[in-house]
Amino acid sequence: MPNILTINKLKNAKRVVILTGAGISAESGVPTFRGEDGLWRNYNPHELATPEAFERDPRLVWEWYNWRREIIHPLEPNKGHRFIAELERNTSCFTLITQNVDGLHQKGGSKNCVELHGNIWRVRCVKEGRVFGLLDLPLKDIPPLCGCGSILRPDVVWFGESLDPEVMSKAYNAVRDCDFMMVIGTSAVVQPAGSLPLIAKENGAYVVEINIEKTPISGIVDESLIGKAGEILGKLYHEIQGH
Ligand code: APR
Repeated sequence: MPNILTINKLKNAKRVVILTGAGISAESGVPTFRGEDGLWRNYNPHELATPEAFERDPRLVWEWYNWRREIIHPLEPNKGHRFIAELERNTSCFTLITQNVDGLHQKGGSKNCVELHGNIWRVRCVKEGRVFGLLDLPLKDIPPLCGCGSILRPDVVWFGESLDPEVMSKAYNAVRDCDFMMVIGTSAVVQPAGSLPLIAKENGAYVVEINIEKTPISGIVDESLIGKAGEILGKLYHEIQGH
């Protein structure tokens, strides 16, 4: 249960930032990356989530993303996603930054979502750079082709690729300016996302972590809450609603 200081800090916060990772979607049934049954335990990221892998075998990479899309599609947002969307509605200055590509924050009602690593429901033409939604399940063609005849890639950030500078600028500005930050369900080992809580802390924010285990940032946050995000956020919601 969050301590009274955390609850009061959240109740009085004026500029809130939430950073999420795969752990926020775990209770919806979305596999995480580094957990016991994480994707990187069963698949080699270097064979599936790099530009070189896509160059080498776009069909294999797309078969893996098609499989992930089919897993994610029927899944619903959980209490954690819905709490974050409710918090956004009740906070005048609010930024959600997510590393997730599953789209469950938007499905759970979040409006202003900074997607650091892109979105599995969007594609990008490798020739024109055009980005658009592609919701076919399963994909009609693997790999899918653009109208211009070129191949389409998932609109996600792969290992070794840089993040969109505009997206990063939004994230950096938000964490530098916030007075309260919650870091939920991330192993905090992938950069630049892993450094965002440190920047918030350096700029005077009160930072809370929610995770089922300790992470490399647990020692620097103001409160590290160990437990499932959906459960903790559900309790926190009732606390700040005053009942
Ligand atoms: N509630 C809270 N935290 C949870 C839960 C839960 N129910 N289940 C798992 N976690 C925590 C795990 O303890 C772990 O710290 O969520 C974290 C998930 O870590 P990762 O699997 O490493 O996912 P993430 O931190 O989002 O990875 C960052 O790495 O592979 C890339 O691009 C990929 O965006 C991803 C990035």
